[in-house]
Formats: sequence, structure tokens, C-alpha cells
Amino acid sequence: MDTGLLHLHNLLRWVILILLLVSIYKAYMGWKNKRAFSAGDRKTWLFTLISAHITLLIGLYQVALGRYGIFKNVLPEGESVMKNKFFRFYWIEHPVAMILAVILITAGYGMAKKNLSDEVKYRKAFVCFLLALVLILASVPWPFREIVGRPWFPGMQ
Ligand code: HEM
Repeated sequence: MDTGLLHLHNLLRWVILILLLVSIYKAYMGWKNKRAFSAGDRKTWLFTLISAHITLLIGLYQVALGRYGIFKNVLPEGESVMKNKFFRFYWIEHPVAMILAVILITAGYGMAKKNLSDEVKYRKAFVCFLLALVLILASVPWPFREIVGRPWFPGMQ
């Protein structure tokens, strides 16, 4: 089960990135072209929200009980998590940045339901989604990252 969840967590990164890019594009075009807020935009933002929340839930499980989870590993005697680059990334940097990104995606989606003018809805959602994208791009364990790097797709080395 753990491997399946890890693979899903890996794959959902691409789903989130694609949906987030589409959400950003739609929010930007809506804002700049002063479009009326549409059900289609709301749906795209909703799917972005759902994929981010599923990834978050899997991540919470992994950071607690996954193969590198806090309850599954003991740091070497006398070593603190802040001094261990690997565990600092997987226990602190990655989860904190990604939780913030998911909060921003949730706030961006929340604009769809707020009693705001359509222009403000689009503008605020655009800022939230863009910040989330920056955080995600900066915090994914891309294969080229030293020590913490992971494959592009599930099952690759
Ligand atoms: C938008 C949200 C997130 C994205 C895009 C994301 C992306 C990724 C990717 C691509 C990997 C590498 C998977 C692999 O080795 O095949 C990974 C691993 C991991 N992620 Fe996330 N993640 C997100 C959120 C989170 C959150 C919120 C947590 C914890 C609360 C978390 C905890 C972990 C852990 C512990 C691993 C290492 C798992 C292992 O190798 O056993 N992730 N993440």
C-alpha cells in the first residue's frame, strides 16, 4: 500500500502543476479581460483544490508513517533534524512549504464563493495560485536536487 501511495503522490504532482497552470491562466485572462466569472473557471479551480487536498492527505500519512516517516525512523545518536539535510527536507521543508501551497490553493478556490466583484475574484485567485505554484516548484524533490532528489515519474530510478 505504501508504494502505491508514494506513486500516487508522485503522479499527482503533475496533475496539480497542470491544473494550477490552467487555473492561473484562467484567473489572469478573467482579470485582465474583465470577464464575468464562469462555472467553467470554478470547476477548474475545484479540480485543482481536490488534487492538492488528496496529495496533502497522502503526504501527511507519509511524513508520519511512510518509509521515511517520523514514527518509522530514529536519527543517529546526537544528531538534530536541522543538521540532517535529508530528514530536514522530508520532515520540515517539504511538508511546511506544501501545506502553505495547499492553503493558498484553498484560498484561491475560496474566491469563487466570495461576495466580491468578478475582477477582484480573478485578481485575488491569480495571486494565490501564482504563489502556490512558486512554492511547489521550489519544494518538489526534483531528480536534479542533491540528496533529496526523486524520480520524474513513479517507478523510475
Ligand atoms: C502540493 C503538494 C505536494 C507535492 C506536489 C508533493 C510532491 C512530492 C513528490 C514529487 C515526492 C517524491 C515522490 C517519489 O519519491 O516518487 C514527494 C515525496 C514526499 N512528500 Fe510530498 N508533495 C506534496 C505535499 C506533501 C505534504 C503536504 C507532505 C507532508 C505533510 C508531503 C510529504 C512527503 C514525504 C514524507 C515524501 C517522501 C516519501 C518517501 O519517499 O517515502 N508531501 N512529494
